[in-house]
Amino acid sequence: MVDLDGKVAFVTGAAGGIGGAVAHALSRAGARLVLIDRNGATPDIPASDTVMWIAADLGEAAAVKAAWNTGIARFGAIDILVNVAGVMIFKPIEDQDADDWRRLLAVNLIAPALLTGFALRAMSPGGAIVNVASVHGRRTTTLVASYAASKAALISLTRSTAIEGRERGIRCNAILPGAIDTPLLHASPAIRSGAEVIDPADIGRPEDIAALALFLVSEAAGFVTGEDIVADGGRIGRL
Ligand SMILES: NC(=O)c1ccc[n+]([C@@H]2O[C@H](COP(=O)([O-])OP(=O)(O)OC[C@H]3O[C@@H](n4cnc5c(N)ncnc54)[C@H](O)[C@@H]3O)[C@@H](O)[C@H]2O)c1
Repeated sequence: MVDLDGKVAFVTGAAGGIGGAVAHALSRAGARLVLIDRNGATPDIPASDTVMWIAADLGEAAAVKAAWNTGIARFGAIDILVNVAGVMIFKPIEDQDADDWRRLLAVNLIAPALLTGFALRAMSPGGAIVNVASVHGRRTTTLVASYAASKAALISLTRSTAIEGRERGIRCNAILPGAIDTPLLHASPAIRSGAEVIDPADIGRPEDIAALALFLVSEAAGFVTGEDIVADGGRIGRL
C-alpha cells in the first residue's frame, strides 16, 4: 500500500472525474490536499484540516500564481503536483482562431508549466509531478487539433521537467489516458451524435487513472521519470 502520510499534494481539475479520483486516492494514502478547480469544491471531498479547495481559472496566468500562493501558504510545502485540469475544443483546424488556441493552450499547457516551475523551486528531493496528457498526444483524429497539440506539448514538458528535476531528486511522468468515463468524454460531438461508438470494454474509470497516478508519485516508482504511459485498456495498441 502506498503511504503518503504527511505529504502535501496539489491537484488541478479536482472537481472533475479524473481529478476527483486522483484526489480521493491521494487522500486515502494519507496526503494533505490543495485542490484547484474553476468550479470550486465538490461535496464528495469536503474541505477540512487536511483538504483545501481553491476556486481558480487556470486559463489566467495571474490566477495560477494566486492559486499557487494561496495553496503553498496553507501547508507550507509541496511534495506532489498532479496537473489534471484540461479542456477540449471540437472544431476543424480552419475554424479554430487565435483565441481558441490561446484559451486551450493556457489551460492545457501553460498552467501545468507555470505550476511545474513553482513546484520545482519549492519541492524537496523525493518530489513527484504527474501530468495527465492523453492518447491524443500520440495519435489523434479530426476536430481536436488544438487539444492533440497541447497534449503532445505536455508530454514534451514532462520530459524537460524530468531532465531539469533530476539533480534535485524530483521526478516527472505523464499519463496518457484513453477513453475514460467522465463528462469530458461525453462532451465529444461525435460520441453524442453516435457517429463514434466506443466499445464499452475500451472505456476506463477515473479510478484506473488515479491508480496509475498513485503509483507514479510513490516511492515504488522512484526509478521512473520522464516517461509517458498510456492507460487505455489496450485500445490504441491493437491492430
Ligand atoms: N475523459 C477522458 O476520456 C480523457 C482522456 C484522455 C485525457 N483526459 C484528460 O484528463 C484530464 C481530466 O479530464 P476529465 O475527463 O476528468 O474531465 P472533467 O471535465 O471531468 O474534468 C476536468 C476538470 O478540469 C477543470 N477545469 C477545466 N478548465 C479549467 C480552468 N480553466 N481552470 C480550472 N479548472 C479547469 C474543470 O472544471 C473540471 O473539473 C484532462 O486534462 C483531459 O484532457 C481525459
